[in-house]
Amino acid sequence: MSNEKKQCKTTASLCVKLDKCEHYQKFAQYRDKILALSNESLEKTIAIALSLCFVCAILVSISAVALKPLQVENKAMDMKKNILDVAGLLTEGSNIHQDFAEKIEAKLVNMETGEYVEDLDVITYDQRKAAKNPAQNTLIPKDKDLASIKVKAKIAKVYLVKEGEAIKSIILPVHGYGLWSTMYGFLALDADGQTVQSINFYDQAETPGLGGEVVNPNWRALWSGKQVYSESGEVALKLIKGVVDNTKDGSEFQVDGLAGATLTSTGVSNLIKYWMSNEGFAPYLDKIRPECEGE
Ligand SMILES: Cc1cc2nc3c(=O)[nH]c(=O)nc-3n(C[C@H](O)[C@H](O)[C@H](O)COP(=O)(O)O)c2cc1C
Repeated sequence: MSNEKKQCKTTASLCVKLDKCEHYQKFAQYRDKILALSNESLEKTIAIALSLCFVCAILVSISAVALKPLQVENKAMDMKKNILDVAGLLTEGSNIHQDFAEKIEAKLVNMETGEYVEDLDVITYDQRKAAKNPAQNTLIPKDKDLASIKVKAKIAKVYLVKEGEAIKSIILPVHGYGLWSTMYGFLALDADGQTVQSINFYDQAETPGLGGEVVNPNWRALWSGKQVYSESGEVALKLIKGVVDNTKDGSEFQVDGLAGATLTSTGVSNLIKYWMSNEGFAPYLDKIRPECEGE
């Protein structure tokens, strides 16, 4: 018997079973009763509207479930794209997954000690999820919470760009509150852990044209070459109101503030201060600096 005939037979036997089912018979009776009513009847209007809602809900649920793997895949690709971008390695039309695998090395860092964590799977570890899990996060005391984030993950996921064994970029995840939203981004530093290569914010909801200018490539370009720590080891890098005078002493620690967005600008300064301090990545940078200098 051909496959088509087999399928027809199975469908026919299912229909026969359905016809015999008591619940289906009740449903069919009700359906026929409703369809026989006049189009002006309130009962028919409500029944048709409810059936439509039911069918639409099923369709939406099926698409949500079916599209979930695609969404996860797209999210992962977007994250890789942002990391390549802040590392200055994003090229038009290139294969994101392949470039990321070849050029970027992800590492887990214990935020307290600055040591690498080797007994967790770096690929599946999600720092943002960990920050929401009481077993994996630390509460930040109010007086130290410069970035207004309340909690942080005990383990951070950082990224390195290497040439052979030499570190070329250290990419640190940073986040902090602006005016309307928590801004999530990456800060790329030279191997000295001091000189900024680039910054990008991949998730924020500040006002487009005002605080939302944190994603403007022209503003982002102003960060290149800026210095994080002063000679005394304090975090000195910050946004100032107006335009930086690059001829003045100290301008290496300053970036132009965003016009009409002082509160977002303060948020950016604060998150830099927090994540570059001892509460953030300073212990890690102190650990890897000698490693980089020895290369
Ligand atoms: C609709 C609207 C949206 C705004 N969005 C932002 C914003 O995203 N970031 C920000 O810092 N200020 C924003 N502001 C302005 C702030 O309320 C505040 O006036 C501003 O931060 C002061 O900055 P300035 O001293 O540079 O003018 C917004 C104001 C309005 C009316």
